[in-house]
Amino acid sequence: MPILPKPVLQSIDYYMVGISKLKGFEKPIKLSSNESALGMSPRALEASLQSLQQSHLYPEVDTERLASVIGERYQLDPARMAFGPGSDELLQRLVNTFAGPGEALVHSKNAYMQFPIYAKLAGATPIAADDVDMHYNVDLIVSKINELTRVVLLANPDNPSGTYLSGAEVRRLHRALPDNVLLIIDAAYEEYALVSDYESATQLVHEFENVIVTRTFSKVHGMAGLRLGWCYGPKWVVELLTKIGPSFPVNTVANAAGIASIEDTEHTKMVLDHNQRWIATVTREFSNLGLKTYPSQTNFVLVGFPPECGRSAEETNLHMNSNGIIPRQFALRDFSDKLRFTVGTDDEMTTTIEVMTQFLRAA
Ligand SMILES: Cc1ncc(COP(=O)(O)O)c(C=O)c1O
Repeated sequence: MPILPKPVLQSIDYYMVGISKLKGFEKPIKLSSNESALGMSPRALEASLQSLQQSHLYPEVDTERLASVIGERYQLDPARMAFGPGSDELLQRLVNTFAGPGEALVHSKNAYMQFPIYAKLAGATPIAADDVDMHYNVDLIVSKINELTRVVLLANPDNPSGTYLSGAEVRRLHRALPDNVLLIIDAAYEEYALVSDYESATQLVHEFENVIVTRTFSKVHGMAGLRLGWCYGPKWVVELLTKIGPSFPVNTVANAAGIASIEDTEHTKMVLDHNQRWIATVTREFSNLGLKTYPSQTNFVLVGFPPECGRSAEETNLHMNSNGIIPRQFALRDFSDKLRFTVGTDDEMTTTIEVMTQFLRAA
């Protein structure tokens, strides 16, 4: 009898990370993984280089300073934070903690594609609610909740759509949840959400016992390669998460860089200004080409290719690749007519818009 994984794991679709290599191009323009094109703060880089000298030691599990710096920046209670090697790991840990066999996790159909994988890994059943043209719909999510539901998981703002749910809508969803259902808000892109009706779900954590929020240093802080995420929730939950997590959830370098990055508010502002400018430009330019652009509160734009624009997503992707540019393509039916473009550097965005314009104008 051979060794066998849990049967449910055989039905997991591989979560394809964005490709980063193109044959014939030494340094392609990679717009496929929602990284920060401007890199991390120079102060964070300096702090990480310094901390490398301590690499032979296990990191002191002392995230106290990191927690207090984050707490000060966002007016949050450091005692309600837990850390991990990326928010991905924290989300997985959280779902594992609160959902299991015979129970269900509800998510929106086109949300972050790891969500059903977290559920299956925990032995729970993922239930996908319909959305409305890539926008979450609270009523459709609520319609999927029943006595088996233990977790509702939202990415707000969402990836890959870039859309968001207003604070009022998140609160309406929360009001519809029984007390024994945990609402997890994956707020990986929160810093980019500048619209006035977006509300940080960390505020809900102060008001309710069944809300927890995950955040990351991978996006606006440009530290995707260092792996650092945190979550904010009820004190007993974060204490439990810390107990059951890895012995050393945060490595020495990520810890040092994270502290310096939070403190470097000028760098964050520069990244946000750059992002806002290019999100507006790409949205305008691509819309002018007859493409459908989904309104983005993130560092990427999801783009639809309607038949009238004369080019399919597939052929556009191939053309972009042949010019050394890598948008994100998704092997899913709802995304077969779409590509996602992450904001790159000024030069990368200028080139991308030029190549797209020539290709679509020639259609
Ligand atoms: C919506 C969303 N959540 C979570 C993550 C995971 O981020 P990390 O594990 O790097 O913190 C990502 C990464 O792209 C994401 O898009």
